[in-house]
This record gives sequence, C-alpha cells and structure tokens, in this order.
Amino acid sequence: MTHALRIESLDQLSQFDRCVDLQIKVWGYSDGDVIPRRVFLVAQRIGGQVLGALDGDTIVGFAMALPGYRNGHAYLHSHMLAVLPEYRNAGLGRRLKLAQRDDALARGFDLMEWTFDPLEIKNAHLNIHRLGAIVRRYHADFYGPSSSPLQGGLPTDRLYAEWWLRSPHVVAVLDGQEHPTETVTARIEVPAVVAQWKQDAAQRILASDLQTGNRIALQTAFAEGLAVVDYERDATGNGTFLLAPWTEHDAAATPERQEVAND
Ligand SMILES: CC(C)(COP(=O)(O)OP(=O)(O)OC[C@H]1O[C@@H](n2cnc3c(N)ncnc32)[C@H](O)[C@@H]1OP(=O)(O)O)[C@@H](O)C(=O)NCCC(=O)NCCS
Repeated sequence: MTHALRIESLDQLSQFDRCVDLQIKVWGYSDGDVIPRRVFLVAQRIGGQVLGALDGDTIVGFAMALPGYRNGHAYLHSHMLAVLPEYRNAGLGRRLKLAQRDDALARGFDLMEWTFDPLEIKNAHLNIHRLGAIVRRYHADFYGPSSSPLQGGLPTDRLYAEWWLRSPHVVAVLDGQEHPTETVTARIEVPAVVAQWKQDAAQRILASDLQTGNRIALQTAFAEGLAVVDYERDATGNGTFLLAPWTEHDAAATPERQEVAND
C-alpha cells in the first residue's frame, strides 16, 4: 500500500496543524503534553526536520526532529514519529526514518538520536533491528508523568537510540545484512504480554515490576560498557535486547556517561 505514498518536507501552517491532530490521534495526549504547531514551525526553521507521509493530499504520518549539540558535536534529535493506525505495518515508519536520514546526511549530520520506551517491542524492533540504532543510555522517568494512554500510567522510562548514520553497522543493517551475534554477551527479555498488563489496572503492577527489573538490568549493562546492538522477536511476539561491548563513536561525540550514573 505504501508505495503509493510519498514523503515530503512540510512547511505550511496547515500542515503543522495536521501534525498536531495526528499527534493527538496517535498518543491521545491531553493539552499539557501536546506539542503545538509553533514548535513544528520552529523545528522546520532552525535546522530540524518536519517530514510528512502523504496519501494524496492527506498527511497520514510524520517525523519531527530538532537540532541538538553535545560535546562539540551537532546532531539531530528526532522527537516524534507517528503513523496513523490504518497505515501501520506496511513500512511507512521505516520510510520516514530513512527520509530523515537522507536529509540529515545531505546537510552534514552523522548522528540522529531519539528516545523510546524500552517496553515497546515493536518500536525496539524497528529502531534497533531494522534501522541499526544502538543504545547505551537509559533515562528513568524521562518526561515525568504522561497523559498518553500508551504509557499505561507507568514512569516514562526511555532508552536513547543513537543512529550513527554513516557507520558500517547502520549501512550493513540498511543493506539487509544479518546482525553479527558472536560478540553478544547479555540478553534482556520483554514479554509481549506487557502491552496487556499496561492497559489493565489490575495487572499494571506486573508491568511496573518488569519495567523496574529491566531498568536495573539495562543500566547495569550500560555501566559495564555494553550497548544494545540488536533486538530479537520470537514467534509469539516476545522481544529480547541483545547486548555486546561497543567501542565505536567513543570520541568527541560520546554521550555523557555521567547521565547514566545519575539516572
Ligand atoms: C512506531 C510507528 C511510527 C511505526 O510505524 P509503522 O509504519 O507501523 O512502521 P513500519 O511498518 O515501518 O515498521 C513496523 C515494524 O514493526 C513490526 N511489528 C508490528 N507489530 C509488532 C509487534 N507487536 N511486535 C514487534 N514488531 C512488530 C512490523 O512487522 C515491522 O517490522 P518489519 O518491517 O520487520 O516487518 C507506529 O507504530 C506508531 O505511530 N506508533 C505510535 C507512536 C509511537 O510509538 N512512535 C514512536 C516512538 S519511538
């Protein structure tokens, strides 16, 4: 279906309004959590990105990124990626990310980052296995309380995806090559049933316990110098983070390790 869709840079106020609508449809935020159209406009004007996926004249998905700077290194922080439910699982989310990468490379960036919920198996699969992002930072309760029902009332724990746009790892993954597994030294599991636990008040404690346990396991692994380098799904939809030593990109652009220690 998505071959007929096109990805375009958005620059009209009416298009930013539509992104705000999509944001509310996709995350179900209340007013205080919604990013207003002015921020989309600012992102587009200051060297970030607002890319839309269009079906005819209708925007059915978008990606929004802001420029960032750390340790002498400019990068893009992708703040939102959304696809309407009826357009999902047909490759559109991946196409939006690839369009972000093309635009970033054309403008000289070599790093894009974004955060994602470590309990969201689909997002982890897309980010790590399909796009080649690596992860070595965990931020507990990143946003504070969230009004999105997707969060299920849990703390907004987030992993930082680092997408090293020109790296051999990313190029190989995008080329469809198998991820090397010989260096994997740790595995951390996420059962698919967690999505159900999050949405059921009576079972939410199970999701909370899993979140806490995996938070400790991931933070410990990161403190030992491991990074998430791949993600597996089994036939019933359970996910597993695969961790291995990672020494690439440890020069000036290395994220603050201190951040890990503080979380
Ligand atoms: C995340 C999102 C943008 C992805 O968009 P999409 O168009 O469905 O993405 P794609 O079709 O390119 O890729 C989805 C992948 O997840 C897989 N997937 C679908 N359901 C899954 C599940 N329950 N568990 C694991 N993987 C799953 C698909 O098979 C596909 O992988 P494949 O290409 O290897 O087959 C979309 O689901 C969305 O808007 N979600 C709500 C908002 C959100 O979470 N945004 C991202 C924050 S980081």
